[in-house]
Amino acid sequence: MTPYARITGTGGYLPTRVLSNHDLERMVDTTDEWITERTGIKKRHIAEPDESTCDLAEAAARRALEMAGRRPDEVDLIIVATTTPDRIFPSTACLLQARLGANTGAPAFDIQAVCTGFVYALGVADKFIRTGSARCALVIGAETFSRILDWTDRTTCVLFGDGAGAVVLEADYEAGILSTHLHADGRYESLLNVPYGISEGQDRLIAGEGKVRMRGSEVFKIAVNTLGRIVDESLTANGLDKSDIDWLVPHQANIRIINATARKLSMPMDRVVVTVDQHGNTSAASVPLAFDVAVRDGRIRRDELVLMEAFGGGFTWGSAVLRF
Ligand code: COA
Repeated sequence: MTPYARITGTGGYLPTRVLSNHDLERMVDTTDEWITERTGIKKRHIAEPDESTCDLAEAAARRALEMAGRRPDEVDLIIVATTTPDRIFPSTACLLQARLGANTGAPAFDIQAVCTGFVYALGVADKFIRTGSARCALVIGAETFSRILDWTDRTTCVLFGDGAGAVVLEADYEAGILSTHLHADGRYESLLNVPYGISEGQDRLIAGEGKVRMRGSEVFKIAVNTLGRIVDESLTANGLDKSDIDWLVPHQANIRIINATARKLSMPMDRVVVTVDQHGNTSAASVPLAFDVAVRDGRIRRDELVLMEAFGGGFTWGSAVLRF
């Protein structure tokens, strides 16, 4: 019998430093009213200069392991989804494996799918567990996105924040992840990107020009349409009706995008986990951070049906339906 991959622990971590909309008013030509009305964001957390993505990931991972009642040496797979790794190599997952004292010899690798990164990582870990290649996986979304923001560009710097979210996934014969759907369409690269990197434009990267660029209103429209489609795809694949879903845990980019997806599901907003007001868009960390918040405050309970979805640079998008 094929096991499910079930979430047995969740953890989150946010850097201590908070940047409010009022703080941003002193940095760029913006207002609290504009940011609140257009995005729903009130504040975001920003990592200290000496705080790295791996630091954030480690804190979230330790909390998830503690909830699962697992020791690091029981972990036989680590996947870190991040757009902002500590180094070019080793991967953040390898750095984390050593830090945690996790099972050496077990696979550890990073996944890059920007804001969809955690859902991609969950989909990959699910396949490891279902095929018997892993029994206890740590899946993490962690970002120091503040490092790739242009703090003089009001159209992007107000939107993002730093943080990490983690889950422990274990083989379980009763319930767990029912489906994951992962997608990409590279033709939209020009709408959302960091245009310089290691193999291309390295001089400009070193000159500090490797920052996020986005054509926001175009991204907005495509995100709303795509997330609507993925809701249908996820429900149909599982033979589920909208009303079967107990909780929507969406990517936290913009409250207006979240509202549109909730409407598509005919879901009242008290069944939708919203953290965008408190965290901003933490890219790959956003879904697991939101999930952890709602598990720890007692909203999401064991055996409830959860739909996670995300959309991000690439474009990439994806969903997971799971029984918690
Ligand atoms: N403060 C004040 N004004 C701002 C501003 C800010 N921080 N940022 C942009 N503006 C201005 C623009 O310059 C524009 O002015 P203009 O009409 O004089 O040209 C006006 O506000 C409207 O800009 P627009 O981009 O059309 O606003 P919008 O309603 O589309 O909201 C976003 C902008 C970015 C909030 C919205 O498009 C969005 O959320 N996009 C998707 C973002 C996303 O999900 N990205 C990540 C994918 S994971």
